[in-house]
Amino acid sequence: MESALTARDRVGVQDFVLLENFTSEAAFIENLRKRFKENLIYTYIGSVLVSVNPYKDLEIYTKNHMERYRGVNFYEVSPHIYAVADNSYRSMRTERKDQCILISGESGAGKTEASKKILQYYAFTCPASEQVQTIKDRLLQSNPVLEAFGNAKTLRNDNSSRFGKYMDIQFDFKGAPVGGHIINYLLEKSRVVHQNHGERNFHIFYQLIEGGEEDLLRALGLERNPQQYQYLVKGNCPKVSSINDRSDWKMVRKALTVIGFNEDEVEELLNIIASVLHLGNVQYGGEEGNVCITSDTQIKYLARLLGVNGAVLTEALTHKKIIAKGEELMSPLNLEQASSARDALSKAVYGRTFTWLVNKINASLTYTDDSHKNYSVIGLLDIYGFEVFQHNSFEQFCINYCNEKLQQLFIELTLKSEQEEYEAEGITWEPEKFKGIISILDEECLRPGDASDLTFLEKLEDTVGGHAHFVTHKLADAKTRKVMGRDEFRLLHYAGEVNYNVNGFLDKNNDLLFRNLKEVMCMSENKILNQCFDREELSDKKRPETAATQFKASLAKLMEILMSKEPSYIRCIKPNDSKQAGRFDEVLIRHQVKYLGLMENLRVRRAGFAYRRRYEVFLQRYKSLCPDTWPNWQGKLADGVATLVKHLGYKPEEYKLGRSKIFIRFPKTLFATEEALETRKHSLATKLQAGWRGYSQMYLFVIMYITYLAAIAIQAWWRGILARRRAQRRRQAADTIRRFIKGFIYRHRERCPENEYFLDYVRYSFLMKLHRNLPKNVLDKSWPTPPAALAEASEHLRKLCMQNMVWSYCKKISPEWKHQMEQKMIASELFKDKKDNYPQSVPKLFVSTRLSTTFFLLQQMSCETCTVPVTKYDRKGYKARPRQLLLTANSAVIIEETKLKQRIDYGALKGISVSSLSDGLFVLHVSSDDNKQKGDVVLQSDHVIETLTKIAICSDKINSININQGSITFTVGQGKEGIIDFTPGSELLVAKAKNGHLSVVSLLNLPHSQSDGFSKLKAEM
Ligand SMILES: Nc1ncnc2c1ncn2[C@@H]1O[C@H](COP(=O)(O)OP(=O)(O)OP(=O)(O)O)[C@@H](O)[C@H]1O
Ligand SMILES: [Mg+2]
Repeated sequence: MESALTARDRVGVQDFVLLENFTSEAAFIENLRKRFKENLIYTYIGSVLVSVNPYKDLEIYTKNHMERYRGVNFYEVSPHIYAVADNSYRSMRTERKDQCILISGESGAGKTEASKKILQYYAFTCPASEQVQTIKDRLLQSNPVLEAFGNAKTLRNDNSSRFGKYMDIQFDFKGAPVGGHIINYLLEKSRVVHQNHGERNFHIFYQLIEGGEEDLLRALGLERNPQQYQYLVKGNCPKVSSINDRSDWKMVRKALTVIGFNEDEVEELLNIIASVLHLGNVQYGGEEGNVCITSDTQIKYLARLLGVNGAVLTEALTHKKIIAKGEELMSPLNLEQASSARDALSKAVYGRTFTWLVNKINASLTYTDDSHKNYSVIGLLDIYGFEVFQHNSFEQFCINYCNEKLQQLFIELTLKSEQEEYEAEGITWEPEKFKGIISILDEECLRPGDASDLTFLEKLEDTVGGHAHFVTHKLADAKTRKVMGRDEFRLLHYAGEVNYNVNGFLDKNNDLLFRNLKEVMCMSENKILNQCFDREELSDKKRPETAATQFKASLAKLMEILMSKEPSYIRCIKPNDSKQAGRFDEVLIRHQVKYLGLMENLRVRRAGFAYRRRYEVFLQRYKSLCPDTWPNWQGKLADGVATLVKHLGYKPEEYKLGRSKIFIRFPKTLFATEEALETRKHSLATKLQAGWRGYSQMYLFVIMYITYLAAIAIQAWWRGILARRRAQRRRQAADTIRRFIKGFIYRHRERCPENEYFLDYVRYSFLMKLHRNLPKNVLDKSWPTPPAALAEASEHLRKLCMQNMVWSYCKKISPEWKHQMEQKMIASELFKDKKDNYPQSVPKLFVSTRLSTTFFLLQQMSCETCTVPVTKYDRKGYKARPRQLLLTANSAVIIEETKLKQRIDYGALKGISVSSLSDGLFVLHVSSDDNKQKGDVVLQSDHVIETLTKIAICSDKINSININQGSITFTVGQGKEGIIDFTPGSELLVAKAKNGHLSVVSLLNLPHSQSDGFSKLKAEM
């Protein structure tokens, strides 16, 4: 705030305590006027906020504004209602003390608007969870609903609160709004049935008629024309330019939903509102003593809307129940009585429904989380403002009485806080004289007697007649008598004189509703009315408390509530009576300044000292003005401030030092200090600029140096890390080696801690080696040598591996290859190690035919059989003759080119002889019983192993093959024998020897050749 002092000429002072001429009302009002012109509607008196209604929308309530005031010290920002709201919120949180904000001012001064702004501020700035958001919405939405049902257009204010409202906002320990509670004070019920000229009934009636959908109005039996309803025509003011009933209706409907009304409840609520309008239109006629209702339609609607019996209602509206000598009698009402009974019912129905509405809202705002019952509260008081009309009645009396009490409270509390602060600070208190002791009208004057309003007036004269603030026509001087009626009394309130007309005081205070009307309402099927009119009420014989007494009691409770909390004040001022923006009516404002006691407030605040600040705040702001306190004061704060003010040349009468604060008596002292600060700031800025260049170079150097140091530090640190890592690895390696050696030493022992690592390692290495070197095929016999511990397991694994390879080989083998292998197996069984040229045959695949292409036909036959070229030796001369040997299913056939030369049935084949040497000669021994045969057959084949194997297989003579050493004897025919002699030699030779034998020279040691067939065989394996 101090920073704004230099701009004071243009916008006055932000705090009235800084006014030089603080006793001057003119200076006060001038300050208000200057600021008002600049749209600065808020000004402080110390901690009290004075607010002037701008009657126009100012751009000062945006979210940005809310942010600006959030959590900021009261004095650091320009005056605003948000600063007050925030200050209360922070005090509540830091001091854990319940707060209340009292908003006062006359009707139309802006109290309700102020309370809405505060609520909006909390809704925006306070932390919120999902549940809290619902409560925030309900808190905000409770306003349009309550305003619709409890506000009305008056001559003073288009949206005048006709009820008092105190609202508690409950905050949890995190500072989130979690609940709320509203207490309502005396609704101005008389407005339901009567309005002064230029005024309206409660907004809700017009909203319903203007905004209600066609269907809804039809169901309620209403017309879209307020002029049709007696209760809406009294003020002759159905339309107000500043009010849009239609859009307000939409807002209210939405708000009801947010608050938690279901469709049935809304319907029942609107039924009641409509029924009040219908009640107003109930007309009486007939003769005196025999009053009747002239229109049936209203009764029909009423019966339906109120959920009561039409005939019973009609009787209750025209008769009064009297109990005489224990008997109930129905006494007819006269016209006047019937009308007032009807109006009493309307007021009762509306008034009680309003209270029900408040309770319903309270239920929706109830803080439900039982686990945190411990909440803090900020209370907002927005009550009907002080008002004076031409005709003032009981309601104005109550409203003004209430304002009087609040003003009294304000004075008491502000005085008290001032006194306490001065005493706490050890400063001598200078008592301030101020006016404003206002008498309280004793409720005795309102207590019903058996007399009329006029006898009540007389009683007033008797009892309080001597009071300086009370006067009646009878007691007044001649001048006053001219402006007073005989049925009036005048009270001098803090806010001015008000003449009250006593007519209706007794009735309104009694607030009576005939018993039979109550009974009808108790029978209502409308659930809301059912709750409003309790049957117990009927049996309660005790006379209910009067309206004024109830009101007085509720106000006393309100005072208690307010006294128990830390108060903040907002004093609202109305700038003109015509609700115009920019019009500053000095007379009107002076009047308010006076009765609100703002000058007294200021004087009290300035009684000693205009300005007070905590030492730390003062020192922080002005320390640059003294070399001893700049840049920092190291000693005690009080000494620092004393040094500072001494240096500034403060005179002893200009200031006082308290325990924690400095008090400055005159604003000019503060202004001088503030100006010195401005000058100092400039010189400091110049110095700073001059020093900046050097400083920035220095700064660069420092930055570089720091970077260099940092780099070195990082390098050292990194090297350390690497070295530590290396050392750790070395340690681990040494450990492993040590364990390994120990294990090797103990390797033959049973498994023990010393050798378990080694044994495991050896096993692991063997298995890994095996894994890398498994045999690739069945012929590969390599296998790593296992350690002793794994010898058995290794053998199992080897067998498994072999089985597996064989199995997979067999799976892949083709039928042709299988046949080949079977033949080779038989050949092996027959000749292996028995005949010298067997090994040469192994790699050669057996084929079905070995004939050249010239033997095409035989080749074709070989599909079923086997053909092979052979050499046949004659039995006598052993002459060699080329032939083809054909093996069929039953016989071996010798063919010369295409001529069949000899057939040997397998059944006639006795045996086959062959030498053990390396030659191709063999003899087929044929049975001599077969006459077709000429004797045994001597043949030679280049593929003797293959040929003999096939003959053996085809003729099934595997066991009849004889392998002979040296010679073979065979039958030539007719009992004659031939002999073949075999000798080894270097060249194969077959010839007839001199001894008549066939001499065969067999080859010696023929080298093994690696044929394709053999390599293919290996590959297959
Ligand atoms: N801060 C504001 N900014 C703009 N307009 C305002 C402000 N405060 C009040 N007003 C205008 O003044 C009118 C009256 O204000 P409000 O209803 O708050 O008065 P009140 O003090 O509550 O009166 P009553 O005692 O009759 O209820 C508002 O309807 C609004 O038009
Ligand atoms: Mg209001």
